[in-house]
Amino acid sequence: MTTTDGVAVTKRALHEISRGYVKTALLRTAIDLRLFDGLADGAEAGALALERSVDERALRIVLDGLTAIGLLCKDGARYHLPPGGEEFLLSSGPHYFGGAVRLGASDWEWDAQRRLTDAVRKGGTVLEQHYLTPELEYWEDFAEHTTWFNNGAAELLADQLVPWAEGRDSVDVLDVAASHGAYGFSFARREPKARIWCLDWPNVLPHTRRNAERFGLADRLNLIPGDMFSVPLGGPYDIALVTNVLHHFTEETAVRLMTRIATAIKPGGRVVVVGHTFRGGEDPRQNPMPFLFSVSMLAQTHDGETHSVGTYERILTASGFTGTRLHTGPAAQHTVFIAEKA
Ligand SMILES: C[S@@+](CC[C@H](N)C(=O)[O-])C[C@H]1O[C@@H](n2cnc3c(N)ncnc32)[C@H](O)[C@@H]1O
Repeated sequence: MTTTDGVAVTKRALHEISRGYVKTALLRTAIDLRLFDGLADGAEAGALALERSVDERALRIVLDGLTAIGLLCKDGARYHLPPGGEEFLLSSGPHYFGGAVRLGASDWEWDAQRRLTDAVRKGGTVLEQHYLTPELEYWEDFAEHTTWFNNGAAELLADQLVPWAEGRDSVDVLDVAASHGAYGFSFARREPKARIWCLDWPNVLPHTRRNAERFGLADRLNLIPGDMFSVPLGGPYDIALVTNVLHHFTEETAVRLMTRIATAIKPGGRVVVVGHTFRGGEDPRQNPMPFLFSVSMLAQTHDGETHSVGTYERILTASGFTGTRLHTGPAAQHTVFIAEKA
């Protein structure tokens, strides 16, 4: 296959791409106005407009737009949810996507992308408030709304660590930049000896604690508020988790952080790194997600990007870890790297 196979620029595709933000706006509006909840049993625009106290003509236009992009179905004048709607679009659904929309399509993320051209000129974010800003408010929303995103990789991680932890006397876990804490908590639910130390900015940790309470793990939780590059880490720990963090930085900065973390792990202990990756050298069309994620990192960090598998392996080796193995699964969007403290 050559790199041009199956590729052709068409006017239609360009229209789609240049107006992609209209789709985002429709989804955001539907979540803001709880339109999907109002259509759980099907409804006409007039009835829903009355219920939601909005303009009927405007709502009809929005509902038709949502139908046009496949998020609603329409029979005559009645709108209803398509297959999958109950799971993802109803606020009571098991995998409700509303939180993810509030975050991924937030004003802040839109603003960052709007300034992508400036970021390209500069070589990194031009935002005053960006991912590396201490106690960024955005991370509070992240801690509240992204838990379910990570479940595939969190389960994968637990599958690998639970058998290893079984024979150990203690299973103390440091979760660096823990946010919602879902990775450590998913593991701790399956390993009763596990105690978790969650490190994050002080404004985020109340959300971490609430999540631990939801998981029934509050009595096994300890909090370390502060900057991961300078706060005392405590320890030594049996396991350290560094999930979805290293793409904020260059390889050099990642090695500096991981070398620091290595000092807090017992010899023979384990480190788990999770992130979006690509193999290196592949055509981005084959696996668009990590490449598009890298664009977000360009707009939101000084020098972060999606790292390749090879870069993650180099970071771990240079930071004093050995025997790196990587795990991926069909449900996990991320790759899980597990290595041993030498
Ligand atoms: C992308 S989230 C990753 C959260 C979680 N580990 C996960 O896998 O979803 C990044 C987290 O790092 C935290 N963070 C960023 N810079 C930090 C720093 N210098 N010290 C401590 N936490 C930091 C943020 O508050 C946020 O909760």
